[in-house]
Amino acid sequence: MKVAIVGTGYVGLVTGACLAEIGHEVLCIDNNEEKIKILKSGKMPIYEPGLDELVEKNVKAKRLKFSTDIKEGVKAAELLFVAVSTPPLPDGSADLCYVEAVSKEIAENMTDYRIVVSKSTVPVETGMWIKRTIEKYAPKGVEYDVASNPEFLREGKAISDFLNPDRIVIGVESDRARKKMLELYSPLKDRTHILVTNIESAELIKHASNSFLALKISYINAVANVCEKTKADIKEVALGMGFDKRIGKDFLEAGAGFGGSCFPKDLSAFIKIAERLGYDFKLLKEVQDINRKQADLIVQKVKDNFMTLNGKTIAVLGLAFKPDTDDMRNAPSIDIIKKLIQEGARIRAYDPVATENAKHAIGQEGSVLYHSDMYSAVKGAEAILILTDWGEFKEMDFDRLKKELGAKLTIIDGRNMFEPAQMKELGINYIGIGR
Ligand code: UDX
Ligand code: UDX
Repeated sequence: MKVAIVGTGYVGLVTGACLAEIGHEVLCIDNNEEKIKILKSGKMPIYEPGLDELVEKNVKAKRLKFSTDIKEGVKAAELLFVAVSTPPLPDGSADLCYVEAVSKEIAENMTDYRIVVSKSTVPVETGMWIKRTIEKYAPKGVEYDVASNPEFLREGKAISDFLNPDRIVIGVESDRARKKMLELYSPLKDRTHILVTNIESAELIKHASNSFLALKISYINAVANVCEKTKADIKEVALGMGFDKRIGKDFLEAGAGFGGSCFPKDLSAFIKIAERLGYDFKLLKEVQDINRKQADLIVQKVKDNFMTLNGKTIAVLGLAFKPDTDDMRNAPSIDIIKKLIQEGARIRAYDPVATENAKHAIGQEGSVLYHSDMYSAVKGAEAILILTDWGEFKEMDFDRLKKELGAKLTIIDGRNMFEPAQMKELGINYIGIGR
């Protein structure tokens, strides 16, 4: 099938490359000319494991193309995905100005039947607004449908999440759109559940799922706080809980809290849309509050090691909001590093891929020195703080670290990567979360 995707960000580009991989002809569109230039030159504007190979393969096979022109997409493709940003407004609600602008431009260029599919995470009832927008701007008599097809792509694992999804959710209101959307995903139908709902349910499935996952993380962080007051170990508690199939073992890792472009933004947007619909979603406000306090907790754990943090050098290992991505959006490291600096600490930071983005996100020139490997980052530092559970940290050479550090090796592990008993044996002052 012929597909156009408007918005070639993390989601749009992965979706485009994967739809091409399963046999469709895809045009990825973005109004950022620089981004399209980079893609046309065979380079990647983002880091996502496996994406460069997938893009290269499908460009070569002529199934994947790039453009800055929405008109070209509307002309070529019957299915038009909207995957533009939906950033938070100052009050936390989703800013739908790009979704509206793109819907309008698609509508103005329609000459034949088209399906406009919302891929971006949007508040419930956005589909209805997209429909009203198209109705307003499309030439008279042109038929169209609106659909919702939320993404469930974890950064770092986005390609396998697309090709082997737990489920595909399709929200439609006509039989014609349902058939087209099912045809689009037919190459994946034997690997997954395809759930067809109305548009509002599909939209809500996305917000409700992400908020529930965020709730799981805040819940386990709250339980970790109770563990710290007893001899209980959060790893054992989470393991014991996770064996219960009704709870499930995933998303029970206590630590520095959740970040990223989705959970923080989606939680705020869900709380706001619920408020607009007349429901005060206090439960989710508490989820946000627990997450905010995790940053303070980590800062306190660092402070507890010194008479005063003023003038101390802390090595921060891991800056990205999670491993296997260069994404710094809402990374817990931003807030934590800023708070440490406020206390007078100097930071030596290392991240395997997110350093360039971190420089923009954290700023604080002069107080943060960025290093290209973990051993030079820890040189002369008085404590190590781990904020992202990158695989390479698992392999760290403790003897070498002991030599590089300016004091007894202290590790504050904001991601519970190591076992306290083993660290004790190695003579390391090890502080985890809820252990
Ligand atoms: C986006 C949404 O923000 C998110 O809510 C949704 O769940 C998935 O899509 P992401 O792909 O991570 O997330 O965002 P980003 O990497 O910022 O990509 C958005 C792209 O849209 C950018 O490349 C931007 O240049 C492009 N864009 C934005 C347009 O092409 N046209 C516009 O009018 C606005
Ligand atoms: C999320 C959704 O999982 C995905 O379905 C899609 O909707 C986009 O948003 P993403 O933000 O890429 O994916 O990462 P995810 O793996 O969900 O992690 C989000 C944050 O939670 C990270 O900061 C991670 O470190 C944190 N996390 C995750 C925990 O603190 N503990 C856990 O047990 C799991």
